[in-house]
Amino acid sequence: MKGSPNSVLRTDGSLRKKRRFGTPGKPLSHGSSSQSVQAQRAGLPIATGKRALIEEIRKNDVSILVGETGSGKTTQVPQYLLESGIAGQGMIAVTQPRKVAATSLAARVATEQNVSVGSLVGYSVRFDEASSDETRIKYVTDGMLVRELLGDPLLSRYSVVIVDEAHERTLRTDLLITNLKDIQRRRNSPSDVKGKSSAAKLNPLNVSQPDYVDAAMRTFFQIHTDQPPGDVLIFLPGQEDIEGLERSIQLYVDRLPKDIPSIVVCPMYAALPPSQQARIFTLAPAGYRKCILATNIAETSITIPGIRYVIDTGKCKEKRYVARDSGTGFDTLLTRDITKSSAMQRAGRAGREGPGFCFRLYTEDAFDAMAESAEPEIRRCALTSSMLQLRCLGQDIEELDFMDKPDQEAIGAALKTLYLLGALDNKRCLTKLGRDMAVFPLEPNLARAVVASREFGCTLEVIDIVSVLSASSKLFFDSTDEREAASEARRKFRHRSGDHMTVLNVVRAYQVVAAAEKKSGRREWCKRQFLNERCLAEAQDIRDQLREVCTRMQIDWKTSCGEDEQPVLKCLVRGLVQHAAYLQPDGSYKQLMGPSIVKIHPSSSLCDKKVPVIIYDELVYTTHIYGRGVSAVPRSYIAEVPVLNVKGT
Ligand code: CDP
Ligand code: MG
Repeated sequence: MKGSPNSVLRTDGSLRKKRRFGTPGKPLSHGSSSQSVQAQRAGLPIATGKRALIEEIRKNDVSILVGETGSGKTTQVPQYLLESGIAGQGMIAVTQPRKVAATSLAARVATEQNVSVGSLVGYSVRFDEASSDETRIKYVTDGMLVRELLGDPLLSRYSVVIVDEAHERTLRTDLLITNLKDIQRRRNSPSDVKGKSSAAKLNPLNVSQPDYVDAAMRTFFQIHTDQPPGDVLIFLPGQEDIEGLERSIQLYVDRLPKDIPSIVVCPMYAALPPSQQARIFTLAPAGYRKCILATNIAETSITIPGIRYVIDTGKCKEKRYVARDSGTGFDTLLTRDITKSSAMQRAGRAGREGPGFCFRLYTEDAFDAMAESAEPEIRRCALTSSMLQLRCLGQDIEELDFMDKPDQEAIGAALKTLYLLGALDNKRCLTKLGRDMAVFPLEPNLARAVVASREFGCTLEVIDIVSVLSASSKLFFDSTDEREAASEARRKFRHRSGDHMTVLNVVRAYQVVAAAEKKSGRREWCKRQFLNERCLAEAQDIRDQLREVCTRMQIDWKTSCGEDEQPVLKCLVRGLVQHAAYLQPDGSYKQLMGPSIVKIHPSSSLCDKKVPVIIYDELVYTTHIYGRGVSAVPRSYIAEVPVLNVKGT
């Protein structure tokens, strides 16, 4: 609770010794990065413990490091290890649960080493990598390192693996720790790093506020008009709330009296493009107050300087697995109360450089009612993708020595999904198909569609669609302001079969524009069509990577089915077979493999249509259960799914 524990896990000593070059303990000369950066490094709380830390890590195969956020664990420890020579010629991996933390930390540490990202210091996250033969410190997402296990079960390229933010207990981190335990003897040596923050003064509410976004806005303007200078950090659950609050604040800014300082609003969430994320680290111009709107990403993963005031809505989004009686289920993001541990972390973000204040938009009773800390992801998320990866490593999720064992129900659901996708046979053994699927850095259902495209001759099209579905932001904005104009603009992309082919039409149109226009032209075009350019640009990167994977697997990604949508839909059915629903006499849809009644999401091009069978990308829970990303498919396509076929005969 007091800080974020990082475990420093070293691979075995023999490897280390064999690989050690140069004089151990002698610092590698790092370039002359600006003196202020070096002074800042030397002033971090962790710097006083540097020598002891290196000694501990040198002596022990496993070390657990606990320290306050901002004390220098993530940025400094890898550099200390590099300088001390402990890592020998191998790489130092530092895992992060989030992509944006990995990339921004790599940038920071590269600056401290006075090198460019991708040389000595690099990163590797899904669909993006900056590293080279020179790279010695690599910030990676925990998921990427799990993926690396598939090709290199001993992680032999790394002499040190730092499992950062281990307390978050993401599914991938748990998987990684289980595997790391497997490949080394385990010894523990806790050592403490003292933090330097002055505790923030807490201001809880007396009455609870149901509309936390509105409460956050009012609190912010009270601070802004009444309190001395100092930046404000507001914690909100997710991107939508952040965007909503940003708009509201901007509206009010124009009406502020002249004598009140101006405001710079900086959003911060995982899906934000790196160029915009960088803004939160830059100082606001003189006379301005910076207001950062962030998700729990700013709790521990990212340290933002200059924060004096924290506003904590007490909410976060949490991925949760919704189990269904039928033994199937899915992950969904739910807004929920944070834990006590998060609340303390949030308060701790204020006043790192002086007295700080935390405004909690919840009562003390609400705080007391919070859980101590978050339930590990392995206990609440879908296991499908991890189970497939483990099977490829020859491991069985039920037999592994986890810190917390996954739920039997979730295991059953994952097994069922993998069986329906054809990745496991009826003896639960990995199939060739399953092995092929695991090569793609995609959710298993989308990987299944791509693999199927080889058989149906439409890899070009399926990859284009899957890339958009795998992007971190949505293609279409759900904006309510210009709904009419947006749907008008979208009409020309519509395909009668539904949303997947509509996505393909958009991608095709964008590709023509992207080939002909510069950046500004593309942006203009997307704006006119009410399309999210960020999604399309990201999808193109993903597409290029998927094409590379196909080439490696000798799947010809240029194979196209032209204008015929049928092969594409057949592939999608193979992947989304669990997401099929049949029209009922009353106009609703009933899941083929579950008990739920599903409506077509209002954003779908099929929203007001009555088609006999649909498949959907995901379920959304609001007043009803909605299927989003919907296509109409002939009933026969479902019957043709091999697994269902076997059952039927
Ligand atoms: O991992 P831990 O929370 O202990 O701290 P860190 O991420 O290593 O950050 C140490 C210090 O580096 C922070 O207090 C910031 O002052 C600075 N930092 C920064 O200026 N920009 C970053 N992107 C990351 C860290
Ligand atoms: Mg850290």
